[in-house]
Amino acid sequence: MEYTTLGDTGTTVSRLCLGCMSFGSSDWRPWVLDPEEGEEIIDRAIELGINFFDTANMYSNGESERVLGDALEGRREENVVATKVYFQMDDDDPNSGGLSRKAIEQELDNSLDRLGMDAVDLLQIHRLDHETPIEETLKALDDAVRRGKTRYVGASSMWAHEFADALHASDRLGLERFATMQNHYNLAYREEEREMLPLCENEGIGVIPWSPLARGYLTRPHEEIDATTRGDTEEHMYEHPYREGGGTEINERVQELAADKGVTMAQIALSWLLHKDWVDAPIVGTTSVEHLEDAVEALDIDLTSGDLAYLEEPYEPVRVSGHE
Ligand SMILES: NC(=O)c1ccc[n+]([C@@H]2O[C@H](COP(=O)([O-])OP(=O)(O)OC[C@H]3O[C@@H](n4cnc5c(N)ncnc54)[C@H](OP(=O)(O)O)[C@@H]3O)[C@@H](O)[C@H]2O)c1
Repeated sequence: MEYTTLGDTGTTVSRLCLGCMSFGSSDWRPWVLDPEEGEEIIDRAIELGINFFDTANMYSNGESERVLGDALEGRREENVVATKVYFQMDDDDPNSGGLSRKAIEQELDNSLDRLGMDAVDLLQIHRLDHETPIEETLKALDDAVRRGKTRYVGASSMWAHEFADALHASDRLGLERFATMQNHYNLAYREEEREMLPLCENEGIGVIPWSPLARGYLTRPHEEIDATTRGDTEEHMYEHPYREGGGTEINERVQELAADKGVTMAQIALSWLLHKDWVDAPIVGTTSVEHLEDAVEALDIDLTSGDLAYLEEPYEPVRVSGHE
């Protein structure tokens, strides 16, 4: 395993983060694995040197946090745990979502209960709450750090100008600053390269992209996307503009390069991200131990500048996706 520091913090994380959205309950989404299968993948990830895990309160309505907490029992300290708050957890309680002080404090406590932990390492805002003043959100996050309930705070998809405003507000008020940005970035979706990624580079923000394999779109030929349960049933796979612009040709070039190098498409797509200096650790979603092992092997693949240019060439600007 390779390790890096998370943004400008002193905390060391593996260059792959294991995404736990696929673990919990298939009642939430048909492609989600049950707890035993999830724990098996987390065990193997630890054996392979992964020490960085990403979940959210809303994944499987809290079950993903339970699976991660159970899997890490007895080995909490040597791992780095990230969760998220924002999406409404109880349809009948509007204060169970958003980023008010009340929502952040209550929902973080609920997350810690499910995880069975006193603190997480990184509490991220899953989206920006346009109904709550950013100062209220930042103060509640800062208090969560002072109270020892999270060590760092992070953000997820939003416009770069919104993130710049939030960083400026925390600096102005002397509050804990966002240490990380978890954004939508992969070979088939590169709009973040315009504004967000240069901003993160200038500000020392750790970048941990979500859906690094375009939700599976970059892992098999585009005509076979519906071959798996997730490919067949996940509406986001079709909502994101992966097939627009040069998406089909990018998929074909990933196939071609994978065949030339004798590796899998997933490994080429991940290796491309791992070659980007502004990326700390892609958050990989796997549904099997074999896929996880594939991901770890991608760290050993060398792509030449010619390979990178060949993969990138067909990309055309597409509509912004992933902020909603
Ligand atoms: N902050 C946010 O808003 C946000 C949004 C989305 C995700 N996330 C985070 O990012 C993590 C990853 O997201 P994601 O699951 O969408 O990411 P992804 O890694 O882009 O896609 C995962 C899918 O790719 C396929 N796959 C993975 N490894 C493979 C391999 N070696 N060979 C073949 N296929 C492979 C699997 O599809 P099949 O199952 O179809 O085979 C898997 O379900 C989540 O767990 C979550 O932690 C955050």
